[in-house]
Amino acid sequence: MAVHVVDHPLVRHKLGILREAGLSTSGFRNLALEISRLLTYEATKDLVTEPKTIKGWAGDVEVEMIKGKKITVVPILRAGLGMMDGVLDMVPGARVSVVGFYRDEETLQPVEYYVKLARNIDERIALILDPMLATGGTLLATIELLKKAGCTNIKGLFLVAAPEGIEKVVTAHPDVDIYTASIDEKLNEAGYILPGLGDAGDKIFG
Ligand code: PRP
Repeated sequence: MAVHVVDHPLVRHKLGILREAGLSTSGFRNLALEISRLLTYEATKDLVTEPKTIKGWAGDVEVEMIKGKKITVVPILRAGLGMMDGVLDMVPGARVSVVGFYRDEETLQPVEYYVKLARNIDERIALILDPMLATGGTLLATIELLKKAGCTNIKGLFLVAAPEGIEKVVTAHPDVDIYTASIDEKLNEAGYILPGLGDAGDKIFG
């Protein structure tokens, strides 16, 4: 697995504003979408293109188009929905697979409550979307679910990630790539990322 920290100046700037305690719901939503577009740009860098001849204004012209492999985005309910439209702006042809987990506040274990995967998901690149990778339990459960469905090419996009969660996923699934705008410092005793974003789900849904 490779961990990619997307530290483009625009991402660093937008993430800085996203961390502000007093940010409005609409401000948080907009920035989450903007950062998600930029994460997608990085996460799709290895897509292969092939030449195609099209009719241009002055006759035939050879252009490049994405080859073969199709994408499904996998927002993890709820908070992952706050990234989805930003990612779909970049890959509008992607199918959507929805996975619902909430984290039990006492055990910190993920609890599954909804799964609806795209058709032919085993033929697609899966882009898991979640603003936060904390203990890693939710991501592990999602990866296991996708692998069981036949996915072989899985990437995860996060606004912020904790070292503890990254470590857990690296160990269990070395084939999965992680893209995050930041690797934060650590988790607190309650399993929240520091400095983190607070509760991204509550901030997005209000
Ligand atoms: C948050 C977050 C992740 C999960 C991360 O979701 O969006 O899904 O916690 O934690 P983990 O890495 O320790 O598993 P939450 O349970 O708050 O649900 P929500 O998205 O419905 O708000």
